[in-house]
Amino acid sequence: MPLVEVNSVSKSYARRAGLHSQRQTVVENVSLAIEAGETLGLVGESGSGKTTLARMILGLVKPSGGTVLVDGTDVARATGAQMRRVRRQMQPVFQDPYAALNPRMKILEIVTEPLVIHSKDGGLAPGAGGDRRAALRSKAVELLAEVGMDESALDRHPHEFSGGQRQRINIARALALRPRLLILDEPVSALDVSVGAQIVNLLRRLQREQALTYLFISHSMPLVRYLSTRIAVMQRGRLVEMGEAEELCAHPKEAYTQQLIAATPELPQA
Ligand SMILES: Nc1ncnc2c1ncn2[C@@H]1O[C@H](COP(=O)(O)OP(=O)(O)OP(=O)(O)O)[C@@H](O)[C@H]1O
Ligand SMILES: [Mg+2]
Repeated sequence: MPLVEVNSVSKSYARRAGLHSQRQTVVENVSLAIEAGETLGLVGESGSGKTTLARMILGLVKPSGGTVLVDGTDVARATGAQMRRVRRQMQPVFQDPYAALNPRMKILEIVTEPLVIHSKDGGLAPGAGGDRRAALRSKAVELLAEVGMDESALDRHPHEFSGGQRQRINIARALALRPRLLILDEPVSALDVSVGAQIVNLLRRLQREQALTYLFISHSMPLVRYLSTRIAVMQRGRLVEMGEAEELCAHPKEAYTQQLIAATPELPQA
């Protein structure tokens, strides 16, 4: 069974046009599956519906039609308990690493917050005060080490870090509950190319080490090609082409996919 199954999913929004209200379809009849352990790359021009699709997988936006199953659970119809179980399994990482971090919280609180929130259903055994604090601290050190940062970050605030470091902190936080799936929505688009490349390599290493499954959304065809097992191409809300990454890049069938490939320069060699 695939980890994620998107079945004929659509999303439309009411749009006011003068005195009338019309519906605009932003995702139209999309079906795809994400297998455990793979990276599905999702590309398409701005406004093609990538983020909307990602938010429907995360259960943050309700589809107007169709279903999204994550590990067999329909995320739009899950009960509270089912949804908590699914939430632990999938975590988002978004484009803007600063907006995602609460500026008033210390890094220690930020990366362990998911454990505290989910502690009731097994995130972290609620121990005595001091023990619990020590356990959270050592968990935070472990998570930071996984993303290449050290303990000295724990008592500092987000503004003290660079964009790349903030994205590492976001990733550490996303890993706190040991998810199976990361929804990566343009995780390096806001970063310099070289810093973005480091984050991409970090994501690759984490995927190997933790058997993670990725949905990787990006405008950069070379980056998507580098990371993905398969690639899905969206245009105006529709899935226009999907295939093995190398095959799709070497022999794109759709003119639109050819344009996307032609529009992006090759990555500089590392
Ligand atoms: N909550 C909303 N209400 C109304 N329209 C919306 C809403 N969310 C998204 N849209 C519209 O849906 C369309 C698709 O948006 P979406 O953010 O999914 O595109 P995207 O492919 O992620 O684009 P980008 O590459 O710029 O991030 C856009 O036209 C957008 O304006
Ligand atoms: Mg988007």
